[in-house]
Amino acid sequence: MTTADPRLDGRAIKRIAFDEKRIAARVRELGDEVTARYPEGELLVLGLLKGSFIFLGDLVRQIRRPLQVDFLVASSYGDGTESSGHVRLVYDPETTLEGKHILLVEDIIDSGRTLNRLIGLLEERRPRSLDICALLHKRVAEHLQYEVGLVGFDAPDEFLVGYGLDHAENFRHLPYIASLQ
Ligand code: IMP
Ligand code: MG
Repeated sequence: MTTADPRLDGRAIKRIAFDEKRIAARVRELGDEVTARYPEGELLVLGLLKGSFIFLGDLVRQIRRPLQVDFLVASSYGDGTESSGHVRLVYDPETTLEGKHILLVEDIIDSGRTLNRLIGLLEERRPRSLDICALLHKRVAEHLQYEVGLVGFDAPDEFLVGYGLDHAENFRHLPYIASLQ
């Protein structure tokens, strides 16, 4: 079934790690958690592009309180499947962060290097609070200096694609999350 998916340009995926139904159910729960977590104050949902674009789009529609959306672009991977450890800020949010609750939305936490670098930068802008919501967490991030407040799923330590996650910019549009062959 999976290998015949016309979205895959003939490349085989190993297995579906999280299917559409499971993702949707968990995103609904996360939306409820976010709604409950911020009873008042301004909330800025800050998506880390590109990987978070689908997750963020689904997540914000499950949050029942006022909010704003902006994005950050950081680049830590080239076309490979291993973290280079080098993080570059390509786009910086234009919105003021000061005094707002910031919810940083990340697709997946692997080494934790991206977050270590970004959180420091964001804290300098004196938000009222700063929390991380990651769809997937590989739990291998020994260097991660921050606690991730909201996690969708613990992820297998495999290279995953789909639902925003890419391999060399491909496969982001898969509605499920799969591991690559
Ligand atoms: P970290 O800095 O090593 O934690 O890596 C975080 C970033 O690397 C994520 O935002 C993803 O863009 C990318 N990444 C890490 N693991 C995977 C994976 O399994 N598939 C696709 N991208 C990944
Ligand atoms: Mg990526």
